[in-house]
Amino acid sequence: MTTPMLEIRDLHVRIEEENKAILKGVNLTIPHGEVHAVMGRNGSGKSTLSYALAGREGYEITDGDVLLDGESIVDMEPDERAAAGLFLAFQYPIEIPGVATMTFLKAAMNAQRKAREQEELSTPDFRKAVREAAGKLSIDTDMLKRALNVGFSGGEKKRAEVLQMALLQPKMCILDETDSGLDIDALQIVSEGVNGLRSPQRSMLVITHYQRLLNHIVPDRVHVFSDGRVVESGDKDLALELESKGYAAFDGVPA
Ligand SMILES: Nc1ncnc2c1ncn2[C@@H]1O[C@H](COP(=O)(O)OP(=O)(O)O)[C@@H](O)[C@H]1O
Ligand SMILES: [Mg+2]
Repeated sequence: MTTPMLEIRDLHVRIEEENKAILKGVNLTIPHGEVHAVMGRNGSGKSTLSYALAGREGYEITDGDVLLDGESIVDMEPDERAAAGLFLAFQYPIEIPGVATMTFLKAAMNAQRKAREQEELSTPDFRKAVREAAGKLSIDTDMLKRALNVGFSGGEKKRAEVLQMALLQPKMCILDETDSGLDIDALQIVSEGVNGLRSPQRSMLVITHYQRLLNHIVPDRVHVFSDGRVVESGDKDLALELESKGYAAFDGVPA
């Protein structure tokens, strides 16, 4: 059997501050090259899953394991996970006043190269990489001179996020789009970005509340999340079934 890209085994996560168990035994396996979707009602623990995978502070893994391409990541720091090829697109992108987007991208790329013991990119090589990636995403280079995410529209934030993903070339991308209320513009950007980055060497986990995103990003598998667990898995049609029947049909919890 080939090693999956991501294997989540019986993952239990507790929020330290609240001393509250949120994830109660998540099992999820994503093979190389596949795009999986996680859908679930608000509060079911989807964002907690993405934070725990990224290694965010305050989310304690109390049981279980997460393997990235066969290697356990649960004891790694967030930057080590990123260097190992994990990328998390935040639901609410952070704003970095005073740091031009270009400068941020260069720092992010070089931090990753350093962790991988590769040489820093020269400025001309970096500029070339950004120009190419930005061109494909129809990003105006003027946007890259502005401070990262500061005053960016929703669509611009999404573009900046997909640009980071394109430049860092992660092997496992996690996109949490749950509550962000994607408008048509942002929906288009995310879908095109994700579809453009699909490859046999890259897997993706798309977390969403909205079935319509999955009309644009057609997933290989859909998982229904409820009360900190995967309660049902199926092919792309499961998303449609979920929309017509509602979550209650799958988790027994009244809407
Ligand atoms: N930082 C936190 N402190 C306290 N409770 C939290 C925190 N983050 C999430 N929760 C709780 O964990 C549960 C799952 O939340 P979340 O993972 O955001 O769900 P979803 O993304 O599916 O809407 C909710 O009951 C939420 O109130
Ligand atoms: Mg969420």
